[in-house]
Amino acid sequence: MNLLFVSSEVAPFSQTGGLGDVCGALPIALAQRGHRVVVVSPAYGRANDHLAWDTGVTARFWLFGEQHDVRYRVYRPQDNLAFVLIDSLCFRRSGIYGDSNGVYGDNLMRFALLCRAALEVPRRVEALADGRLGDEFVLHAHDWHAGLAPLYLRAHYHPVGLYTRCRSVITVHNAAHQGRYAASEFGGLDLSPRHMETTMWGDTLAALKTGLVSADHVTAVSPSFARDLRTPEGGFGLDAILRRVPLTGILNGIDTTLWDPASDKHVPQSYSLQDMAGKAACKAALQRELGLPVRPEVPLFAFVSRLDGQKGVDSVLRLAPWILEQDLQFVALGSGASTLQNGLKGMEARAPHRARAIIGFDVPLSHRIYAGADFLLVPSLFEPCGLTQLYAMRYGAIPIVRATGGLRDSVRPWGPVSHDGTGWLYDEPDQLGQAMFWAFRTWWDHPNSIHQLRVNGMSQDWSWGPAAERYEAVYQG
Ligand code: ADP
Ligand code: GLC
Repeated sequence: MNLLFVSSEVAPFSQTGGLGDVCGALPIALAQRGHRVVVVSPAYGRANDHLAWDTGVTARFWLFGEQHDVRYRVYRPQDNLAFVLIDSLCFRRSGIYGDSNGVYGDNLMRFALLCRAALEVPRRVEALADGRLGDEFVLHAHDWHAGLAPLYLRAHYHPVGLYTRCRSVITVHNAAHQGRYAASEFGGLDLSPRHMETTMWGDTLAALKTGLVSADHVTAVSPSFARDLRTPEGGFGLDAILRRVPLTGILNGIDTTLWDPASDKHVPQSYSLQDMAGKAACKAALQRELGLPVRPEVPLFAFVSRLDGQKGVDSVLRLAPWILEQDLQFVALGSGASTLQNGLKGMEARAPHRARAIIGFDVPLSHRIYAGADFLLVPSLFEPCGLTQLYAMRYGAIPIVRATGGLRDSVRPWGPVSHDGTGWLYDEPDQLGQAMFWAFRTWWDHPNSIHQLRVNGMSQDWSWGPAAERYEAVYQG
């Protein structure tokens, strides 16, 4: 099959969260299975953009009363896989979606431009995966930023006989962000008025909703999230629409080559299920790096996350007085809302011998944390899939997660009698303390159980293969 991905983030070029991981790794898995894959995303002018060379191909689009020039850059790591970066002035800013002054006011224009430019790739850019995509491909759009692409396919191409055999799929990674704007913005989108109704949701223009009703199939990033999306409680207002369209939940995988404790270049000592000695060395090195006492005997709890209401940071902050009184260590790595950053920094200030809060986005450090930690907290209020718990299990750190969305689908509860399970799950946000207490007691009283939990987690297969197979079925329709 020929596949055209459109996403606002793709690792290693750009990332604020799991969307970047998924759009970097799933295409590799699909290419390995013999498909031709092209991934289109903006060139934000970041560190890795130089990997993509300038093809010299340009295009011009008229949006919001102005003309926008783009250049197409291509990185082609293998014959049947290419990453196309859309280079345009409007993408080259310090942030991806916004900066310290807030979200960029012209994001609707920026991501409409991404969609318009992406759909021209199969026609204009020769230097693509394995030649050209031709006019028969599946468009795979991700989240609201690519939500207009399925509509542009129907509105600009099908009526003039182009791409008529193309299907489209949209994946919902996060329904909390829907790309909603004033209805008056419609005039800037280069769409005829007869498409206005498709783009409207209530009295606002809504990019995600546009994608949901324009694509041939919708997927969500875990089966639980897909189910929840069809309910009024978990549908973010989109449940009625999602009950009417074909929707499949597919649990994300992880790139098991990049994320492998046996060969990870970011961690100080490698280890594996067969030889766990290196994990203790990674913990000692992490404690040293963080300036915490090097104590193998105390449990090290970690939290790696965007700092956003979704992630349940408040449950950790509420529990801080208890956490900081225990004989344990705590490290948080995250960036986002300043109140949450300050809250975590406050924990460090109150107990510098126990807690560290690192504010920033630091992928190599995140690897060292998964490798060095004993437990990973994922107290999310909602979590479409979640990747951090998967990385943690792969690195022998035991996840303690709220039973929601993909967390519920990926962490199996520990059974003290059966010795089955990969972590602890809890239901209500204020039960985090109880779950941590169980983990803490198990650490001190039942070290064999801790060992078994690590082994169970590290034995899971989170590679992209099974998910890629499910996407193939969706692409085939
Ligand atoms: P979300 O996409 O909602 O942010 P996921 O768990 O799916 O949540 O993905 C988060 C990804 O971002 C993981 O790869 C995680 O390691 C990474 N990440 C989050 N915060 C940071 C950070 N501050 N530094 C480095 N990596 C981070
Ligand atoms: C979103 C979700 C997260 C998911 C990620 C990748 O950002 O919040 O749960 O893992 O996308 O699909």
